[in-house]
Amino acid sequence: MARPATAAAPKAPPSKHLMALAVVAILGIVLVADFLWASSSSSSPSSPGGAAIWSSRLDLPARPAAPVPSSAKKKTKEKVSIGSMDINATFADLPAPELEWEEMAEAPVPRLDGAAMQIKNLLYVFAGYGTINHVHSHVDIYNFSDNTWGGRFDMPKEMAHSHLGMVTDGRYIYVVTGQYGPQCRGPTARNFVLDTATKEWHDLPPLPVPRYAPATQLWRSRLHVMGGSKEDRHEPGLEHWSLAVKDGKALESEWRSEIPIPRGGPHRACVVANDKLLVIGGQEGDFMAKPGSPIFKCVRRSEVCGYVAQSL
Ligand SMILES: *[C@@H]1O[C@H](CO)[C@@H](O)[C@H](O)[C@H]1NC(C)=O
Ligand SMILES: *[C@@H]1O[C@H](CO)[C@@H](O)[C@H](O)[C@H]1NC(C)=O
Repeated sequence: MARPATAAAPKAPPSKHLMALAVVAILGIVLVADFLWASSSSSSPSSPGGAAIWSSRLDLPARPAAPVPSSAKKKTKEKVSIGSMDINATFADLPAPELEWEEMAEAPVPRLDGAAMQIKNLLYVFAGYGTINHVHSHVDIYNFSDNTWGGRFDMPKEMAHSHLGMVTDGRYIYVVTGQYGPQCRGPTARNFVLDTATKEWHDLPPLPVPRYAPATQLWRSRLHVMGGSKEDRHEPGLEHWSLAVKDGKALESEWRSEIPIPRGGPHRACVVANDKLLVIGGQEGDFMAKPGSPIFKCVRRSEVCGYVAQSL
C-alpha cells in the first residue's frame, strides 16, 4: 500500500511544489482508504476481522531487528522516508539489552491459561488447559533451589481450571472464580484458599456471580476482585467486590460490593504499590461457546487489547 508513494518519488522532477503536492495527495488518499477499510472491517463483529486487522498491520512494516546489511540499506532508507506511513513508535520494537536465556527442566505437563504463584523458592503452578478438550485438576511445584519439579497434589474438584483470579499473602494462596472445564465453558463462582504450609484446601464464600479472569489482589486486609468477563466469557464485567480475610480465613460470610472498575474485562495485571490498588492493561471480549454446542466449542469473537491503567 505504501509502495506507490515511494515509487512516485524522485526521477525527473517537473517542479518541486507539484511533486510535494502529489505526494501529499497520495498519502491522503491512502490514509482515507485505510481508515474506511479498517472501520468497515471492525464494524462486522461476527467476522474474524478484528484479529486480522491487527496481525496484518503489525506484520507489514516489521523492521529487521538486527543491524541492516549494506545491500539492504537503500531499501530501508526508502521505507524510512515514508514517514507517517511507517509503523507508529508505540508499536515498534524497543531496543533491549541482550538477555541470555537458559533452558530449565521441562514442566510435567503442558499448560495454557493456568495460574502460578511463587512463595520463597517454590513456584506453585495450578490447573490450566492441557489441550482445548482437557484441563488439569492438580498443582505442580517447581523448586528453584535445585531446579526440579516435584510435589504434585490435587485441587478441589469444584475449583476452576483456567482464567482464575489468584493472589498470595506469602503462605495462603487465594483462588477466586475462573472458568470451569475445557473448551469455552463458563466460569464458576466458587472460591478456595490453599495453605501452602500444610497443602490443605479450604472453602471461601462464593462470589455473588461467576467471573472469568478477574483482577484479584489483597489490599488493606481485604481480598479484592474486579472486572473480568461475565458468564459468556465475552461481556466485560465492571463489578468489584471485596472480602475481609486473615490467615486463609474469611472474616465475613458475604462479599462486599465496592466501587466498580471503569473498564472491565479479563486478563488484567493487578498490583498494590504505595498503598494504591493498580489495575494494568488487559483485554476486552474473548472467545465464546458456540450457541447450542454440547461441548461448548470455542468460537472466535473480536477481542480488544487495552493499554489502560486504572487505580483506586
Ligand atoms: C501512536 O499511536 C498511539 C495510539 O494510537 C497514539 O496515541 C500516538 O499519538 C501515536 N504516536 C505518533 C507519534 O503518531
Ligand atoms: C528444594 O530444594 C532444596 C535443595 O535441594 C531442598 O533442600 C528443599 O527441601 C526443597 N524443597 C522442597 C519443598 O522440596
